[in-house]
Amino acid sequence: MKGLILAGGKGTRLRPITHTSAKQLVPVANKPILFYAIETLKEAGIDEIGMIIGDTGPEVKAAVGDGSRWGVRITYIPQEAPLGLAHAVQTARDFLYPDPFVMFLGDNLIKGGIVSFVERFRTSRPNALILLTHVPNPQEFGVAELVEGRVVNLVEKPKEPKSDLALVGVYLFDHHIFEAISHITPSWRNELEITDAIQWLVKSGFTVEPHLVEGWWKDTGKLADLLEANRLILEDVCHEVRGAVRGCSRVEGRVVVEEGAEVVDSLVRGPAVIGAGARIVNSFIGPFTSVADGVTIENSEVEHSIILAGSTIRNLGGRLVDSLVGKNVEIQRTEAKPRAYRLMVGDNSQVGVI
Ligand code: TTP
Repeated sequence: MKGLILAGGKGTRLRPITHTSAKQLVPVANKPILFYAIETLKEAGIDEIGMIIGDTGPEVKAAVGDGSRWGVRITYIPQEAPLGLAHAVQTARDFLYPDPFVMFLGDNLIKGGIVSFVERFRTSRPNALILLTHVPNPQEFGVAELVEGRVVNLVEKPKEPKSDLALVGVYLFDHHIFEAISHITPSWRNELEITDAIQWLVKSGFTVEPHLVEGWWKDTGKLADLLEANRLILEDVCHEVRGAVRGCSRVEGRVVVEEGAEVVDSLVRGPAVIGAGARIVNSFIGPFTSVADGVTIENSEVEHSIILAGSTIRNLGGRLVDSLVGKNVEIQRTEAKPRAYRLMVGDNSQVGVI
């Protein structure tokens, strides 16, 4: 069985971060989301992985390499344009055909892995196995309608959903999916939808088995979901202090302080991770915060946020919460007159002030 990870796409919902970076490389608990996908496939015994890449391909390649770090072989498959999930599968046909495969969306996280789904697929050999989970907002997902445990209908982002069962971003297919894709046409948003291809399988009498996911699953394509994924992953970190904790600092609860990081006269309340070479001085780092490598936080309070590598936060008057701060960003309070906000903010940024 092979794996296919989708690491192309537009990432419009995570702008401005995605103006300059691949969204699949945004770290959650200081590890790129994409790495969790590779680990999940490896854990399920899949070591032959195709990776769909788009405009951010060079950055993805530089971060992932040939996969030997995880004991897998990665084959990069450029997609000419982000024309939909089914288009990505079609693009990977030469790599995948005729083997069955797991398709994994590179910005998705699934707690508890996929070992049991892969086992189930191997034993019952349906043409497709789809993973479903109950969600409060089915309008935003591909939604499945089941009758007596059988999939009877699938609709992408329905205005009036017939159920609250969303398609999780992990699918198992045999080679009939290529036939299905050859029969569908682009949707209103001009994408070849995987939901339409699976719906074609259902209507054509192929077996499409549903499987309800019990652990949590997160599509990290939006800020709120990314922060939630960060929270969920941080719940599982253990207390490991490899860096220096000096002065009257306290490090409470499950906190990772990486090698070369310094915590000086500060309170770090876990769960939280402080990356290598980061400096936390006279500050408060609250629960569910990931501070990446080389970040400086001085005289400030940060909570429930992700701060990416090389950024600096100094002398803030209020606490920074629910935030995603990109790489090499500077946020600081100054004494300069007139007292005013001074911003250089990228396109599609969102800033909340008090
Ligand atoms: P989406 O999050 O559905 O799409 P997107 O990345 O274009 O984001 P947005 O809606 O915010 O503009 O994509 C799910 C995953 O699949 C993600 O890792 C990107 C990847 N993808 C491809 O590789 N090729 C594609 O054609 C599409 C649509 C997505």
